Amino acid sequence: MITKKLLAMCFWLLAFGLTASAQPRQEVLLSDGWQFSRDKQQWETVRIPHDWAIAGPFDKKWDLQKVAITQNGEKEATEKSGRSGALPWIGEGHYKRTLTIPEGFSGHAELLFDGAMSEPTVFVNGLKAGYWAYGYNTFRVDVTPFVKPGDNLLEVDLQNKEESSRWYPGAGIYRPVTLILTPEETRIDDWGLTTTTILNWKTVKGENLSRFAVEVPVINPAGKGKPIVAMRLVGPDGEQITSSALPLQGNKAYGAFMARQFKLWTPETPYLYKLHVTLYDGKPDKSRKIYDDFGKVIDQKTFTVGIRTVRVSKEKGFELNGVTRKIKGVCLHHDLGPLGAAVNKAALIRQIKMMKAMGCDAIRTSHNMPSQMQMDICDSLGMMVMAESFDMWIYPKCKNGYARFFQEWAEKDITNLVKANRNHPSIVMWSIGNEIPEQWSEEGRLWAIRLQALCNTLDPTRPVTQGLDNPDGAINGGVAQAMNIPGFNYRLHKYADGIKRLPQGFLLGSETTSTVSSRGVYHFPAEPNNNDKKFSYSKNYNPNAINGTDGQCSGYDLDYCPWSNLPDDDWCWQEDYKWVIGEFVWTGYDYLGEPSPYDEYWPSRSSYFGICDLAGLPKDRYFLYRSHWNTKEHTIHLLPHWTWGKERIGEVTPVYCYTDYPTAELFVNGKSQGKISKNPAERLDRFRLRWNAVKYEPGEVKVVVYDANGQKAGEKSMRTAGKPAQLKLDVWTQHDDNVVLNADGDDLAFVTVSLTDKQGTLIPDADDQLDFEVTGAGSFEAVCNGDATSLESFKQPTMKLFHGQLVVVVRSAQLAGNLTLTVKDKQRKLTKKVTINVKQ
Ligand code: GAL
Repeated sequence: MITKKLLAMCFWLLAFGLTASAQPRQEVLLSDGWQFSRDKQQWETVRIPHDWAIAGPFDKKWDLQKVAITQNGEKEATEKSGRSGALPWIGEGHYKRTLTIPEGFSGHAELLFDGAMSEPTVFVNGLKAGYWAYGYNTFRVDVTPFVKPGDNLLEVDLQNKEESSRWYPGAGIYRPVTLILTPEETRIDDWGLTTTTILNWKTVKGENLSRFAVEVPVINPAGKGKPIVAMRLVGPDGEQITSSALPLQGNKAYGAFMARQFKLWTPETPYLYKLHVTLYDGKPDKSRKIYDDFGKVIDQKTFTVGIRTVRVSKEKGFELNGVTRKIKGVCLHHDLGPLGAAVNKAALIRQIKMMKAMGCDAIRTSHNMPSQMQMDICDSLGMMVMAESFDMWIYPKCKNGYARFFQEWAEKDITNLVKANRNHPSIVMWSIGNEIPEQWSEEGRLWAIRLQALCNTLDPTRPVTQGLDNPDGAINGGVAQAMNIPGFNYRLHKYADGIKRLPQGFLLGSETTSTVSSRGVYHFPAEPNNNDKKFSYSKNYNPNAINGTDGQCSGYDLDYCPWSNLPDDDWCWQEDYKWVIGEFVWTGYDYLGEPSPYDEYWPSRSSYFGICDLAGLPKDRYFLYRSHWNTKEHTIHLLPHWTWGKERIGEVTPVYCYTDYPTAELFVNGKSQGKISKNPAERLDRFRLRWNAVKYEPGEVKVVVYDANGQKAGEKSMRTAGKPAQLKLDVWTQHDDNVVLNADGDDLAFVTVSLTDKQGTLIPDADDQLDFEVTGAGSFEAVCNGDATSLESFKQPTMKLFHGQLVVVVRSAQLAGNLTLTVKDKQRKLTKKVTINVKQ
């Protein structure tokens, strides 16, 4: 009999593979070779991830909804044209490809879908093999009974119903599909693996030891033999830590790794470990006569894990590794602007890096399950995550939404969300819902308890929240008290009363702010505005609203929705009250659909809420957040631009400075406009420096900032632009400063195009039509200018500048070489090229 001691002794030898081994596990990404059709008549070749609707055309008729958005306080049903993005995502879509199974294969075959929009039905060789109702969730299909060695036909049918979403859901197989082959039915249950960290678990010889425990279930349907599991943990710098236990108990192997000091995962130090798990059939080959033989390797998988703890309490608020921190989070919808819902690694890295540079440390995957790719990136770059699930339960927010499925599917959906994601260290809490209409009823309370209990059972290491937009109702009905973390969406005026009634002793701003703005647009006068005809086109918000608007919101960051507030308002609560454990701002980026406050105004078809626009370019608000959230780097940002027409000369044109410094003096053409300091007593002067009486005159505006000791700390100036003279191209790739792409067919470069004068000053009102051409080792992918009212296709190589800028996205080929993007402004006879190296 093999003893525990013996197992532990020979662990290292085993891990380096002295025993007989076969090809243990293959995980094959199914990206190429797909055929796609809307009608099963005409087929085109596509690469997965794919979004069939993002190419457009935009049209008001797609998903035109006549509804009253009751959660926005609307009473009257009105026509909402761009609510779900005005793109052709409704209807059927069909995908097929050949699925090749190796000759001689007789093991277990499974397909792993990370999400398909929506209601995917999976067929193998003409037979139905699987189905999942929710388009946002990951699911697995056991195709073992359906496949044969050689070529098989894989088909996926999708259907999207009208009025099923409050935003653009995307359409198609928009996340990766993986074929998983294991040589035997007995295999590692990779969604079953769980880890638990206990810091300072035990004192041994005066030293504190921490413990990282791992449970690995083995799937062994026929109960065959006595399989054995070996584990090996490798740290970020290659250091190896042994496991203390190996044999199976029941169907599980338990491992415990001990260390004086693990390298703990935090957003600032995103240390990751590799956990190598090997499954043996437990049948030693007697002829080999060696004591360490556990038989054949029948499965092997390496998991990426992080070591860290999460806790919330009345005394200490939200703690990561025992250190209290206020969450500085943003909500993100899943679309990637001009790429639609089709998930892409480079695009996600760009999003997360940009948010991190702002000082943001958390995202909320509103209001649905995240992609694995996004979670991998959050793990490795260091971004905490609230992983959400549903936007509705039993009572629909829109006619054909998830409410159709909730009762039958909710638990299956939560199970897959938690099982697929629980080993991502970045995830620090689960969310079981957003603004659920039944949040104030007994039915809502019971469902909340049930879903939260399911999360807690599948993952006892993380708390659970939900976003409550009716805190009074949710407290009266006991829903808020039932949650691990009571989450308030907006409703700052309810915080003070709410906290008195919450036994938890803390609350989270699960969704905050909803300030709206358009990059480069400034409306005068600059005054806080949440219910005014100049701002709101909607009859629902303001019955006196008049026709005629530019369809934009002002960049002075003073426009917000009737149910919401300004960033400054949230920061007061976040700063002044210990029991407010953080916030998730609505939203980090603009997204397709929900063009509030222009829900009834065509052609508005994407949001104005973003801190960055739909192209990923920062709005002024980005620097407001940066000045407050980024405590490592200084921020000095001036607005508005300083290139106005003759009609503004002599007109009051307030100048704001977003800076972490407390004091500054402003100069217009050398004339002081006054030295001012932040003033905590005034709503808009606590975090911003504002010169409200400045009169515009062309030339230079300059700010000089002073630190808390009154010492000059820096300056920044802006000039009035001269004549448009050149195009400027700035390339971003995921390879930091290197202008290179991987020759894998999936890597993207984001090229920001700006029209400037001779000195490089942006022409802030330029709307020139530009044309793009890509030659060499890549192709044109998409273009976006951030204008929420633009009806130009993201997928055509031409677009107008919006306030002087746009972003062109180019895709690498699967061959190495050089890729050249040429940008032309025919009207001004300007051309600019950039070359990017695509390397193997
Ligand atoms: C919230 C909702 C979000 C979005 C936002 C706009 O109430 O949870 O999905 O609609 O309002 O302000």
